[in-house]
Amino acid sequence: MAATPTHIPVMLERTIELLAPALERPGAVMVDATLGLGGHAEAFLERFPQLTYVGLDRDRSALELSQQRLAAFSDRIHLVHAVYDRIAEVLADLGIRGVSGVLFDLGVSSMQLDQAERGFSYLQDAPLDMRMDDTAPLTAERVLAEYDEAELRRIFFQYGDEKLAPRYARRIVERRATAPLRTSGELVALIDAATPAAQRRAGHSAKRVFQALRIEVNQELASLEHALPAALDALEVGGRIVVLAYQSLEDRIVKRELAARSASTAPRGLPVELPEHAPLFRLLVRGAEMADHEERARNSRSAPVRLRAAERLRAA
Ligand SMILES: C[S@@+](CC[C@H](N)C(=O)[O-])C[C@H]1O[C@@H](n2cnc3c(N)ncnc32)[C@H](O)[C@@H]1O
Repeated sequence: MAATPTHIPVMLERTIELLAPALERPGAVMVDATLGLGGHAEAFLERFPQLTYVGLDRDRSALELSQQRLAAFSDRIHLVHAVYDRIAEVLADLGIRGVSGVLFDLGVSSMQLDQAERGFSYLQDAPLDMRMDDTAPLTAERVLAEYDEAELRRIFFQYGDEKLAPRYARRIVERRATAPLRTSGELVALIDAATPAAQRRAGHSAKRVFQALRIEVNQELASLEHALPAALDALEVGGRIVVLAYQSLEDRIVKRELAARSASTAPRGLPVELPEHAPLFRLLVRGAEMADHEERARNSRSAPVRLRAAERLRAA
């Protein structure tokens, strides 16, 4: 584990620029669905002195560190241990009816990857845990011990885009008949042994399998599919959302949801669009934006990022 956990916030200035018009209003409330180490949060709280900030994270250690980091702003922050699909409930509990800004900075933080004992990294030997929330019941070890071969295959295919999914799933099931897989080192060794030399692609052969397990353990896609509509519903007219996604499955969910909300619902052939058919949102960036060259050189975590953003135009 690194001595001081760090995480460089990705596309920070662009995120601020996109959300600023919504946050300059009096009484503005922003929800940060993925508080992490509070890097984005600190910058927003400094930049907008009137802003109330609601930060969610499912990782208790991230919340503790953010609490310390953001201590100077304690009178206008609410930090909540929650999975972000509970966003509506969290806001209702705080008595907040509408918000001006929403930020999702998806995935794991550098701190989580650096904490070897949490088992996220295929490069370090550790128990097969991979939970972002250490109070959640499902671990990677349980997935590998309990899921049947077809389910394992599906996860590796769908979440890891792994062509050797059938082979890995079969080997895992064979192996656990004699001894359970308990550590990331054991899993990496199994994958290495099961990968034909000709198919060892650039990078580590275990990378995709680990990504797939992480997505399954944390139910990352289902959680996002529930959370995004709830977050968009919570936005006031003029409110804005920015989402930073680091892998294509998540970005596809974001793209689809924002596109659906930004489209007219007028039936085809209607000569004039009625007000109730007008789009609820407008997209603030064309397609997805990426980090610029300079940021990518400075912070490798920003290399895969896809930023999407939208503004609420009218009430539902
Ligand atoms: C990339 S980090 C955020 C970093 C943060 N923006 C910063 O600058 O420090 C993502 C964070 O989101 C949290 N997270 C991921 N999925 C979550 C979910 N479904 N609900 C709540 N928090 C989640 C992770 O625990 C992690 O701390």
